[in-house]
Amino acid sequence: MLYLDSCIEGAQKLIEDETVDLVIADPPYNLKFGGTTQTKNKKPRFQIFPNDNLPFPDYRRFCLAWLKQAYRILKPGSHVYIFIDWRTYPDMARWLKISGFTIKNCIVWDKKNMGMGWQYRYQHEFIIMAVKGKKNVRRIRTRSQTDVWQISRIPGNQTIHPTEKPIDMMKRIIENSSEEGEYVVDFFAGSGVVPDAAEILNRRWDAFEVDPGWYAVSTERLKEKRT
Ligand SMILES: C[S@@+](CC[C@H](N)C(=O)[O-])C[C@H]1O[C@@H](n2cnc3c(N)ncnc32)[C@H](O)[C@@H]1O
Repeated sequence: MLYLDSCIEGAQKLIEDETVDLVIADPPYNLKFGGTTQTKNKKPRFQIFPNDNLPFPDYRRFCLAWLKQAYRILKPGSHVYIFIDWRTYPDMARWLKISGFTIKNCIVWDKKNMGMGWQYRYQHEFIIMAVKGKKNVRRIRTRSQTDVWQISRIPGNQTIHPTEKPIDMMKRIIENSSEEGEYVVDFFAGSGVVPDAAEILNRRWDAFEVDPGWYAVSTERLKEKRT
């Protein structure tokens, strides 16, 4: 189910300890990103979403709070995937370790097309893959995949959310790190791409989105898929 709530308070209220098979978190990177500025008026297509423009100590507190919830709800040995870019990677890696996670890998998402940027245009992001605990660590489904994923990004003028991720990316994560019928939790729903992928792949899922506008967008996306 999709909840209009913060993942921090929402998970605290609704999800029992060690019941979740996979957590996916595509958090605000704290970069004040409003989408492409290649528009007629050169203004970003969207407004900055919540928690994407915080003073650093507040952003740190925010991340440690949702990481604490992610750790609490995950079953031991299960996986968390966290999207982040090179600017926030060092902090996020430190906070993951402080929260008890063991980082297993850092996937490079090669978006296949260049984006914005000046000193070399951006074409990649990172997806940190980490586990809860050190014993009985779950293995991903296959040994034939590498940690570089070439998946085309959605062109900036076609997204329905400023940081919308391709559904194939979420499907790959879900298929690699969970089985049919297992329970997937998405902490930052945005356009609803994780719930969409989870439905297609027959996973049980819950997702949180704190912004009423984006909650409405993801609700609509899921409704369209069901009809
Ligand atoms: C990076 S975007 C996620 C984009 C999404 N993965 C997609 O592909 O559409 C982060 C989203 O988290 C939401 N958000 C920010 N703080 C939140 C919180 N505390 N709990 C839940 N959602 C939050 C923002 O409104 C934003 O829509």
